[in-house]
Amino acid sequence: MAVKSLGYVVIRTTDLVGWQDFACNTVGLMPAPSPREGVALFRMDDRPFRFWVEQSDRDGFVAPGWEFASREEFEAALAALAAAGRPVERADAQEARIRQVYELARSSDPAGNAMELFYGRFVDYAPFVSPAAVSGFVTGEHGAMGLGHVVFTAPNFAETHAFYKDVLGFGDTDLGRFYLMGGGPDDPGVGFAFLHCNGRHHSLALGEMPESPNGAVHMMLEVATLEDVGRAYDRVLKSKGKVPLSATLGRHVNDKMTSFYMQTPSGFDIEYGWNGLVIDPATWVPTTSLAVSDWGHKWAHESE
Ligand SMILES: [Fe+2]
Repeated sequence: MAVKSLGYVVIRTTDLVGWQDFACNTVGLMPAPSPREGVALFRMDDRPFRFWVEQSDRDGFVAPGWEFASREEFEAALAALAAAGRPVERADAQEARIRQVYELARSSDPAGNAMELFYGRFVDYAPFVSPAAVSGFVTGEHGAMGLGHVVFTAPNFAETHAFYKDVLGFGDTDLGRFYLMGGGPDDPGVGFAFLHCNGRHHSLALGEMPESPNGAVHMMLEVATLEDVGRAYDRVLKSKGKVPLSATLGRHVNDKMTSFYMQTPSGFDIEYGWNGLVIDPATWVPTTSLAVSDWGHKWAHESE
C-alpha cells in the first residue's frame, strides 16, 4: 500500500500561455506533446511528463499524483483508503491512458487535499533538454526519488498526519512545532510534519494551518547544481516582479536544501533547490528541528 514517489502534479490556471512561459523560461522545464486542447505538459527527466497544467476558470494546485510500484501496491492502497472511509474513484481506461499510466484513481486526505494514485512507469526516451539551459533536475536513479515535494495545509493536523502514515505508508522524517506567538501559555504552536516515501528527505509536508486558497503551500523541485539555482534566481530577479520572489536564497536546516521560493502563476510557490539530504528510510530516526533555515529564506511578507 506504500506510496513509492511523487510521480506528477496536476495544476490549473486561468492563463495557460503565461504558465507555459513561466514553466519553460523561468523554471526550465521542457514542453511535451499535449494530449488535448487546454492542457500543457512539461518534462523534467525521462518521464513523459511531470507537470500537467490545464486551462480553467480558477488558479491553483489540483493534486499530486502518487506513484505505486505495482498493481498489488496500488490495489492495497485503494482498499486501505476505502477502509479508512476516504472516497475512492477509479478513472476509466481512457483517462489512465491520457495520464500515461496503467491505472488511475482519485481520493483525498482528511484535510480535503485531493490526490491521484497510479502505477505504471512510462518512459519517454527522448533526451531531456531544458529551454532555460538547466543542467538537470534531480529525480533519483530511474526516477526513484520522484519529482520533488509538495506541502499541504491540514487544520486537522493529527488526523491527517496519521492518515498518510497508516493508510499510504509514509514515514516521519522530521517533526516540529513552531511557536509563532511567542511560546507563552496561550500559544498552541503550529505543528509541522515532513514525511518520506523514498530516499528523498521529504516528498510531503503538512502544516497545521488554515486551508490554503491556492490548493498547496508550495512544491519543491531540485536541480543538479548550485549554479542552476543561481541562474534561476537571476531569471526571477530579471523579471522585475513578473515572477514574484516569495523568499530569498537560503538553506533549510532539516533537508539541507539550498533554495529560493517564487510564486507560480497559479498562486502557490515553487521552491527551487539544490543538494537536498538523502536518507535511508530503513534506519532513519525522525528528528525534531528547532529552526527552519540556517541562513536566508527571508520571506517577502516579512517586514524586517
Ligand atoms: Fe519545501
